Amino acid sequence: MKYKEVYLDNGATTKTDSKVLEVMKPWFCKNYGNSSSLHKKGIHSKETLEKSRSIIAKRINALPEEIIFTTGGSESNNLAIKGVAQIHKTGHIITSKIEHPSVIETCKFLRKQGFEITFLDVNKDGFINLKQLENSITKRTILVTIMHANNEIGTIQPIEKIGKLCKEKQVLFHTDAVQSFTKEKIDVKKANIDLMSLSAHKIHGPKGVGALYKKKSVNIEKQIHGGHQEQNLRAGTENIAGIVGFTKAVQLAKEEHIKKMTELRDMLISNIQQEIPDTKLNGSREKRLCNNVNISFKYVEGEGVLIHLDLKGIAVSTGSACSSQNLKPSHVLMAIGLRHDIAHGSLRFTLSRFTTKKDIDYVVKNLKEIIKNLRKISPLQKNYKYSVGVKDKSYW
Ligand SMILES: Cc1ncc(COP(=O)(O)O)c(C=O)c1O
Repeated sequence: MKYKEVYLDNGATTKTDSKVLEVMKPWFCKNYGNSSSLHKKGIHSKETLEKSRSIIAKRINALPEEIIFTTGGSESNNLAIKGVAQIHKTGHIITSKIEHPSVIETCKFLRKQGFEITFLDVNKDGFINLKQLENSITKRTILVTIMHANNEIGTIQPIEKIGKLCKEKQVLFHTDAVQSFTKEKIDVKKANIDLMSLSAHKIHGPKGVGALYKKKSVNIEKQIHGGHQEQNLRAGTENIAGIVGFTKAVQLAKEEHIKKMTELRDMLISNIQQEIPDTKLNGSREKRLCNNVNISFKYVEGEGVLIHLDLKGIAVSTGSACSSQNLKPSHVLMAIGLRHDIAHGSLRFTLSRFTTKKDIDYVVKNLKEIIKNLRKISPLQKNYKYSVGVKDKSYW
């Protein structure tokens, strides 16, 4: 098999589309004005900033003034959650056990500050239980923060139902839509979303730029103090080049790409399941991100498979990129009830609109060979009692 590079780690980050890079270029050496300046260069930047805001707002059925540009998903999550908490000064926040670390760690930080936090369980497919959510809401609850689509296993939560419930209970609803934005239709009004986090680098835009949607009527406390940029909610000179790139990335994301990714995703899942015995698909089969495949391969270690795939030019990940330096099994895979050894044998393949059928064939062929060879030398054989499936409670 001829060596080729196949990038299937688009859940970690994506390649910047060359068309995105093209529209960004003039904003470095030519149109470098500060959008707060009153001269022509400043006004040009300001106009472009507001045009970008409108385009991104329209995509989610929001108003332009409801978009706050940030440095990405992590900052947006921090701004939303701490921003609401600091307005209320005290109270209860509900989240889930499978959120991105930028939500979980923010909630844990607030717990140290005296806020009460509920981490909802998820079922074996990664869904929260709506009844459990409803029963968890109390008079003290100030915010529900539940992600739209999970970055590791791709499960898509029923955000419209969550939004409806939160509206009935008069509790604010924040969703981290970093992975789902442009891959799922999102209408913030229809879904009763009060706050929503977005990031450019997951959708072929540049790194270091994102946005927080904040419903006009919702009050939050700023987290970065300084100038009056972004409706006085996020100080700092706006990254116009990044914002222009983010906007272009949104415009380039088309519905036909979702269809293409879904077909290739399904092909990857079924080919792996046909070609390689003892595998398990993690996450929901039906309500799943169009570009996510997460599979546990019994009797092997994910890291070992990853390194062998890398030697063949194939980039994938084990757990999420942020935790892949960490030997603890992924908190998401633990929360869906996987045994430690099964969680450690899991790989995430995340596709993009640039993925081809040839890429999928190349990956499956190599994967089959690698798994077969690693299993031959694996101590984790069928009868090997490696560990029992106890959930790691210490994390929470
Ligand atoms: C679900 C989710 N939320 C938030 C983030 C953080 O986004 P950023 O890298 O833009 O800070 C990520 C990135 O991996 C993510 O997958």
